[in-house]
Amino acid sequence: MNISPEIIEDIKFRNNIENVVSSYITLKRAGSNFNGSCPFHSEKTPSFTVFPATQSFYCFGCGAGGDAITFVMRMENLDYISAIRLLASRSGINIPENISSNGKKEVGRQRILDMNKEAARFFRDALFDEKVGKIARDYLIEKRQLSPSVIKHFGLGYAPNNFGALHDHLKKAGYTDEEMVVGFLCGKGKNNSVYDYFRNRVMFPIIDVSGNIVAFGGRVMDNSEPKYLNTSDTPAFKKSKNLFALNYAKNHCENTMILCEGYMDVIALHSAGFENAVATLGTAITSEQARIFSRYTKKVVISYDSDQAGQRAADKAFRLLQEVGVDVKILKTEGAKDPDEFIKKFGKEKFSALIDNSKTRFEFETDKILAKYNINDMNEKIKASNELCAVIATYPSEIERELYIRKMSKIFELPTQSIQRDISAIIKRKNKSQKASLMNDVYRTRSGIGDRINPESASNLGANKKEEAIIGLMLLKDEHMKLGLEKLSTNDFVTSFCKRVFESISNIYKECGKFDIGYIQGDFTVDETARITKMLTERESLSINDTKTLEELISSLKEEKNKDDEDSFDSILKAIEKKKK
Ligand code: GTP
Ligand code: MN
Repeated sequence: MNISPEIIEDIKFRNNIENVVSSYITLKRAGSNFNGSCPFHSEKTPSFTVFPATQSFYCFGCGAGGDAITFVMRMENLDYISAIRLLASRSGINIPENISSNGKKEVGRQRILDMNKEAARFFRDALFDEKVGKIARDYLIEKRQLSPSVIKHFGLGYAPNNFGALHDHLKKAGYTDEEMVVGFLCGKGKNNSVYDYFRNRVMFPIIDVSGNIVAFGGRVMDNSEPKYLNTSDTPAFKKSKNLFALNYAKNHCENTMILCEGYMDVIALHSAGFENAVATLGTAITSEQARIFSRYTKKVVISYDSDQAGQRAADKAFRLLQEVGVDVKILKTEGAKDPDEFIKKFGKEKFSALIDNSKTRFEFETDKILAKYNINDMNEKIKASNELCAVIATYPSEIERELYIRKMSKIFELPTQSIQRDISAIIKRKNKSQKASLMNDVYRTRSGIGDRINPESASNLGANKKEEAIIGLMLLKDEHMKLGLEKLSTNDFVTSFCKRVFESISNIYKECGKFDIGYIQGDFTVDETARITKMLTERESLSINDTKTLEELISSLKEEKNKDDEDSFDSILKAIEKKKK
């Protein structure tokens, strides 16, 4: 641990968990706690709980848990130190640079962000350099018809056709080779030589909602491959959690957002006045991105490319966005391959009309099925109606299903009752298999099978329950903490995970004379921290948490340990050895 407990305490004192969490999600008071929709998994009924008394959170749905620091780690996808830095900077606390949780110098998030800013400046200067940038200006201005003001608005640039131009520039600015490689601006070649990753490409900076340049996309200007290079995940960037142009769209999207495939589509839409357009970053939409949409808007219009790949990708977007509860519609840029081309060919009013006439998922799926099958043919009609029934069965609302069944009945000239029966059968089958997999999950959790955090819990169920209860009690009250430390040693614990937790707790306590989950997080992953928080949360929800309970648990754990020692294969072997002698 390199950041002192005093600083961590100060940070946590100034960033109380209710405030930190409610800057991301809406919390409602429930007794002495707060509830909300979990930002870490999709859910309809809020099972995410914040406990002000212990300054912790726990989600009863997905098991995420921890304190304000863990929350920020998960939410912003940061390592421990970066999360502390973020909270520190929010509350005006200063932390020295270049410290990492394992004591090694590490390339931190802020360093990469600063370097990216420097790189973006370099790319922009290259683009506007009379000679170097001519080819890229011709491409963007002549060929793609972007105005200089749009180019500046999006901070576009040019990576020169050179293996070392950016590297040399960043080196002069004080960045190391390692930082450039970790930040994905350079690659590492033979003999550890370092070269510019983006060359001869027009550059699109990706900017997060706080205005940081977190990554880049770079496009070739001819037909060579790959068309785009994108920054891979770095300590400052996770592709699946960002959207291109969200930094601008966030101020124009209360009612609707437009989801496109490409950077160029977004830029064309923004310049035509549709400033609520965003794009995923070269991958299909993820559930994390879907949750971003649900935080910013009520309705999303999907505007993917009109080719088959684009239309197929729409299925996933519909599903994920529907899951997080936003209204979803889709438009098709008929007569153009994508929104960018559509606007150039037909103008912005026509695009506005496309948005107004955008279709619901039901209409979209119906059209697709009717285009695929000829329903005047008996066999094809059966196939088509089966497919549409399967679509309707995915809607959770009965009223919605009823409305679609009526529509389907008209199109297929089939009685609503038989459609209804088929759909009920599909739903029943689905529920049955869902229930089976849920039961399986419950069984596995109960018996500790598949427990990745504490794999030894499965073969030590009883002992593990006691260990976790003891740790939970110790975290709950200072007097319990003292008692536990006095009566127990690391070896009394059975599973190596709990051994580690206890050891870490007692080291910290010896060092600082007090304890907080925040102090040990550097030694544990976010999932491990969640488990430790769960031990605390579970105890808290019980009414009997007195010293006597703890004493009983301690002696019972010690017995368990002795029993284990007697039965263990090793001790049996030892006994046999003894007899032989
Ligand atoms: P234009 O062809 O210039 O109109 O670009 P576009 O942005 O419309 O690209 P396209 O529709 O071909 O692709 C959509 C998005 O997918 C792009 O914006 C990129 O983010 C991503 N993408 C496209 N090609 C590649 C590639 O070769 N590699 C990677 N990693 N991503 C790509
Ligand atoms: Mn395009």
